[in-house]
Amino acid sequence: MQKTQAYIAQHKQRFLDELFDLLRIPSVSADPAYKGDVRKAAEFVADSLRKAGADAVEVCETAGNPIVYGEKITDPDKPTVLVYGHYDVQPPDPMDLWTSPPFEPVIKKSELHPDGAIFARGSCDDKGQAYMHVKAFEAMLASNELPCNVKFMIEGEEEVGSSNLGTFCRANTDKLSCDVILISDTSIIANDTPSITVGLRGLSYVEVEVVGPNRDLHSGVYGGAVANPINILSRMISSLQDEENRITIPGFYDDVATVGDSERAKMNEAPFDEGTYKKDLGIAAVRGETGYTTLERVSIRPTLDVNGIWGGYTGEGAKTVLPSKAHAKISMRLVPHQDPDKVTQLFTEHFQRIAPPSVKVRVTPHHGGEPVVTPTDTPEYQAAHKAMEKTFGKAPIPKREGGSIPIVALFEQVLGAKSVLMGFGLDSDAIHSPNEHYGLFNFYKGIETIPYFYHYYSQMKEER
Ligand code: BES
Ligand code: MN
Ligand code: MN
Repeated sequence: MQKTQAYIAQHKQRFLDELFDLLRIPSVSADPAYKGDVRKAAEFVADSLRKAGADAVEVCETAGNPIVYGEKITDPDKPTVLVYGHYDVQPPDPMDLWTSPPFEPVIKKSELHPDGAIFARGSCDDKGQAYMHVKAFEAMLASNELPCNVKFMIEGEEEVGSSNLGTFCRANTDKLSCDVILISDTSIIANDTPSITVGLRGLSYVEVEVVGPNRDLHSGVYGGAVANPINILSRMISSLQDEENRITIPGFYDDVATVGDSERAKMNEAPFDEGTYKKDLGIAAVRGETGYTTLERVSIRPTLDVNGIWGGYTGEGAKTVLPSKAHAKISMRLVPHQDPDKVTQLFTEHFQRIAPPSVKVRVTPHHGGEPVVTPTDTPEYQAAHKAMEKTFGKAPIPKREGGSIPIVALFEQVLGAKSVLMGFGLDSDAIHSPNEHYGLFNFYKGIETIPYFYHYYSQMKEER
């Protein structure tokens, strides 16, 4: 890997300039207004794969945003690594909280990134991390050190539930056949504490509507006699968690796997300082399910959170109105062995049941996803471990994370391959928030580490 590493060192600045160009394309998948930019980003990724030396590069059409494919088959007898990532990003709002425009990347220093970080939407999630793979691949090919076959599948709908990726995978099982899937779309504990993600939570996401009177009413004329949907919705939502912050939906915990004491003890050994955590978030106290630590609450326990709530008058000044409708978007993060469809069903039945007769309730399910836990006694995990140990000079710690990448469970079912979650972000990188950033250290560390993954993985597969 000597030549590869030398190549990376030599082309550092160009790699960054290219990533900046990708970050300038506002590929927001949630907003149809950005459709053209989403396609531009796909074309950009395809072009960069071609320039890096990939074959059969294609912008594959789907019912939604295109999926970029590319491959390098060096020898059919060698193992094949499928790299997955996404070029779509979350909406940048709220815009006024960005200290520099979201699609005009700049390098700024921050407390955790004294060497500078790239500030832009998608810098960490996931353009910056996906682009590390393109550059690592380029470096290995240019140095004649690619030890295996590589396939790329970079999608454009991850942030909106990957609704067309399942169909694409099922229709292309031969094209996508591989020994392992490599994903950089997660985080490490700290820049001096590498970790490998061994679990992701699942997701059930619903939108609720509470309807009271058939029109908005004068809150003086009718107030007190007619149900106010916002008051009712607030009550219904608060009843979903009890005093111990446990979710009250009957059956919600039925399938939750109990994590053993020794595993919990180990999990809590990971470096974590609650004081720093609180300070970073500007909160005086943490809050969560009784009987669990913060690290456990965000990894092995399920949650219920309101993501948005609206209704009535929210404009300037005061308008006295008793609104006809109230709305909320609610997400539930799931853990093994909860089933997203079953949880959505339980939620829907419960929410209908607790609604008073004075209102009507409608629950609309959105995308969901299954939780995942990956084993550590596999060649792929061991290869990631050795690769990170090599470049960080420190053994990585296995860590279950709270976020979701719904497609990971599906990959295993459809492609029969396990995923390695070797991400390089930090939890404090503000993904999905204003001022998202990605450390230069992290970007380059990723590019340096990925070639070692290929190296150790191929070596281990050969020995088997
Ligand atoms: N990359 C994130 C998931 C993530 C972030 C995992 C940090 C672990 C650590 C991904 O892009 C994401 O945001 N996923 C969504 C789910 C999707 C269905 C919208 C999420 O977790 O909310
Ligand atoms: Mn992501
Ligand atoms: Mn995301």
